[in-house]
Amino acid sequence: MRAAVVAGLGSWLPPRVVTNDELIARLDTTDEWIRSRIGVVTRHVIEPGAATSDLSVEAARRALRSAGVPGVGGVILATTTPDRPCPATAPEIASRLGLIDVPAFDIAAVCTGFVYGLGVGAGLITAGIADSLLVVGGDAYSTILNPQDRTTSVIFGDGAGAVVLRAGSPDEPGALGPFDLGSDGRLADLITVRAGGSRQRSSRDVVPPPGDEFFQMEGRQVFANAVARMSEASRNAVKRQGWAASEVDRVIAHQANVRILDAVSAELDVPRDRFVSNITDVGNTSAASIPLALAHGVRTGELRAGQKVLLTAFGGGLTWGATTLVWPELSLAE
Ligand code: UT7
Repeated sequence: MRAAVVAGLGSWLPPRVVTNDELIARLDTTDEWIRSRIGVVTRHVIEPGAATSDLSVEAARRALRSAGVPGVGGVILATTTPDRPCPATAPEIASRLGLIDVPAFDIAAVCTGFVYGLGVGAGLITAGIADSLLVVGGDAYSTILNPQDRTTSVIFGDGAGAVVLRAGSPDEPGALGPFDLGSDGRLADLITVRAGGSRQRSSRDVVPPPGDEFFQMEGRQVFANAVARMSEASRNAVKRQGWAASEVDRVIAHQANVRILDAVSAELDVPRDRFVSNITDVGNTSAASIPLALAHGVRTGELRAGQKVLLTAFGGGLTWGATTLVWPELSLAE
């Protein structure tokens, strides 16, 4: 029986840091509100002209070095901010890594994208379609945020993270466990960029209603769904793995809001200090959130070989998911 095994991890944050003070200068908000309601102090943003592929290539290079391999047999990119609407961004990432002729495609599951990407990657490997893959989560939300919208601008940041998956056996460290993935399209309007797709294309002749070209979110409703869905998916994934929630050593949950992490911790009855968190420094980085938090955990020593790890995410769609693994021995490459 084959399994997909995590063999390398890389992350990348663009150098420019935006502080709460910088946002307060142009928005009707306060440092206290942002810290207490969301838990963010700084976030990283790309320079004008840069794009998601630039972040993703940097993270992917580091993941390949961490795995000690020159290349892999395919690239999956989870993103909400592709370089352009067509074609997908993953083939460009693959070719910039020197991976020519490999399968490469994007996954659009918003903040759940990386967990969906792991699920799809695990499927390709266990089915024998691929022997190794890069799964990248990369997003540049600064390119879709309305700079005047205080309800979104203070939350998100840009970044990318990546893992190398290779074929292995289900009982070795790093093997991805069972997945619990879900969606509810009835609530699609809670997280949207309304214009730019086939429903509402923008062109010289058709100008979208003001704001429709930007990311919009109904925060309060999203909050409640995020807590309920991440908790439920986590319970299912842990149960399918044959673990009790109390056995989980580390939770790497989508870094949407510190209060969401508090609520999921209470729902699952897993102590809050087992949740790795870097939202203070990077904000909500959407598809990059989980691999960036993994890298943060390895760097700080919170995430160590042999620990039982739960990954869970929630995002637009709505979408959600969770999976488990025993953390493998691996080191980060700069
Ligand atoms: O990554 C995908 C998944 N995303 C999430 O899971 C995000 C989930 N949602 C959240 O994290 C939170 O709902 C937010 C951080 C977006 C908002 O926090 P909240 O505690 O739910 O605030 P709220 O939307 O209920 O707004 C409370 C008040 C409102 O004023 P009134 O109506 O009470 O007078 C807002 O207008 O806070 C106001 N407000 C702000 N005040 C200062 C909203 N944004 C700001 C702001 N600064 N930046």
